[in-house]
Amino acid sequence: MSRSNKTNRTPKEEERDVSRRTSLWALAAAGVLALSGGVAACGGDDDDSGGSSGGGGGGSKPKVAVLLPDSKSSVRWETVDRPLLQKALETGGVDATITNAEGDKSTQQQQAEQAITNGAKVILLVNLDSGSGAAIAANAKSQGVKVIDYDRLTLDTDAQDYYVSFDNEEVGKLQGQGLVDCLGNKKGARIAELNGSPTDNNATLFKNGYDSVLDPLYKSGDLVKVDDQSVPDWDNQKALTIFEQILQKADNKVDGVLAANDGLGNAAISALKQRKLPQIPVTGQDATLEGIQNIVNGDQCMTVYKAIQKEADAAAGLAVSLAKGETPSVDTVPIDNGKHKVPSVLEKPVPVTKDNISQYFGNPDYPKKEDICAGKLKAKCDALGL
Ligand code: BGC
Repeated sequence: MSRSNKTNRTPKEEERDVSRRTSLWALAAAGVLALSGGVAACGGDDDDSGGSSGGGGGGSKPKVAVLLPDSKSSVRWETVDRPLLQKALETGGVDATITNAEGDKSTQQQQAEQAITNGAKVILLVNLDSGSGAAIAANAKSQGVKVIDYDRLTLDTDAQDYYVSFDNEEVGKLQGQGLVDCLGNKKGARIAELNGSPTDNNATLFKNGYDSVLDPLYKSGDLVKVDDQSVPDWDNQKALTIFEQILQKADNKVDGVLAANDGLGNAAISALKQRKLPQIPVTGQDATLEGIQNIVNGDQCMTVYKAIQKEADAAAGLAVSLAKGETPSVDTVPIDNGKHKVPSVLEKPVPVTKDNISQYFGNPDYPKKEDICAGKLKAKCDALGL
């Protein structure tokens, strides 16, 4: 289930594989729930006495729960974040339970409640939107459970303790500049923007970033914006339909696509291919196997690599300290979420184009060369010197 097991697959095979993984994870998540529910029902959990005492009672390890959002908006959550968080938390000496809400807010709510019932001292939350995230954080806080916003900031609540993510406006700037660089001097190039989910604060930050690069160029007439659409829940299928409509409306005259992540970029690429249109610069994010392969194949011009290992380690480090009742000693920056300044740790994103793909080989959160260059991409990898 790790990236290393992947070979060079077609997008269709990839999609089938993701949905197979999805149901496997759903089953696994249900199993974990059933199991932990059973333990609680037997009264075997002696570690849920309010949460402020720290340390696991009776020799048991303190518990940390991770709530992942889904497995379809990006492959990162299940293939990269889950194993890295699991490892980092276990290494830190806590008991980690990781569940995935598969895009369902009430499921995530229940997973949070279950985690608290089972004695979790800390919840690492990737929210599905700020409203549901704030409800989860408020409930946790009222029971003495600490909350760390993982990757996505929950707005308008004072109930979270920390936020760990990347500089997400910088992610957007890298995408905007990457697109401009890939377009070269194509004056008047027609751009379509395919934004992330309107309920994800990150999508707003990415857009602020890329629009800060693109808006002046639209103003000067160097670029022309032909469309600007958000994709609900980052849903790749919806992105395909939305992008088909964009092409239809624009009479196929699109010269570049600012796609907010690799999944959305791949949807745009699929729509272009269906219409047998030539390759144009398309951006992405997450440095997924599919995204990097699209770059090798010339279908995508760049992606943004976010070293998830660093993000997972930073979040796990905080979670372990809090779960053990200690005060974390990390440098934080204050980020205003509309209600209070959340102590935050922000890692640095970097751009990847065909020229620097090999720079990050060997990192545990980056695709492996064998996987990228397997099968029909071998010749193109050779040509790029990979
Ligand atoms: C994350 C991205 C991810 C997207 C869709 C964002 O909040 O920062 O890495 O691609 O959600 O899951």
